[in-house]
Amino acid sequence: MQRFDTIYAIRQHLAPFHQSSLTIGFVPTMGALHEGHLDLIRQARQECDVVVASVFVNPTQFNNPDDLARYPRTLEQDSEMLERVGTDVLFFPSATEMYPEPPQLRLHFGELETVMEGAFRPGHFNGVGIVVAKLFHIIQPVRAYFGQKDLQQVAVIRRLIRDLSFPIELVRCDTVRETDGLAMSSRNRNLSSKERQQATALYQALTLARDLLVEGQSPNQAKAAVSGFFAQRPVQLEYVEVANADTLQPVIEVQAPGQTAICLAAQLGKVRLIDNLIF
Ligand code: PAJ
Repeated sequence: MQRFDTIYAIRQHLAPFHQSSLTIGFVPTMGALHEGHLDLIRQARQECDVVVASVFVNPTQFNNPDDLARYPRTLEQDSEMLERVGTDVLFFPSATEMYPEPPQLRLHFGELETVMEGAFRPGHFNGVGIVVAKLFHIIQPVRAYFGQKDLQQVAVIRRLIRDLSFPIELVRCDTVRETDGLAMSSRNRNLSSKERQQATALYQALTLARDLLVEGQSPNQAKAAVSGFFAQRPVQLEYVEVANADTLQPVIEVQAPGQTAICLAAQLGKVRLIDNLIF
């Protein structure tokens, strides 16, 4: 695996691949890697000639300075894991390399900004959109891999690709979970052992809601059941929504198979976690 921390160097390295029309697959990450990230790499490995990963804790997408300060940084370990699963190229720029000066451009994703992560983390998707657009310009992949774990982010990137005409195929990969159902997340490292146990409530609540919806209850009834479920637990529910899996807009009835998403965010101590189920 080759490692680069400057835009100039990685562009030089990738230029011959572009010239010979090799298929570049790209997996952007913020590091502190786990099996969920590695699954994206494995899928890219199967489908592309060259696999590029990036590790960059993007300051512009954090709306909470404490969250940014606490975000785990484990570059050497990440680098070994990436190499082991067959990554060809790692890009790990510094913040000043990516942002020599603060970007003045602002992106707004319309109705996607009005719900869930858009509503609860103002400016978050502006930061995601800008960094991913920059990375797309630098790497110029044919395919880019994103996890369903961050479903609203997938919708934001789909919009970015369409609205800015990036010639990139977006691949959405399934959420990888721990054996007790907790979705893998870099932020799970910041949970105490007690919080880690309590965190199973997120997946339990999602499956509860799914079962109720499958039984024929309405989204409002399922959401009320999830609120009641958290009311009895030391986990603070921030939102639960039943939404269209592509547009992320709330729905009042279940959509066609594979089109309904139950999404939630919850706070455990200082750690904020999100998860979703599509059914
Ligand atoms: P990060 O949270 O590191 O996630 C990188 C990619 O891994 C994202 O596409 C995310 O959805 C995916 N991922 C995380 N946990 C997963 C899991 N349990 N199963 C499957 N995929 C999972 O998302 C970001 O970084 C940033 O916003 C980024 C796109 C890199 C822009 O800064």
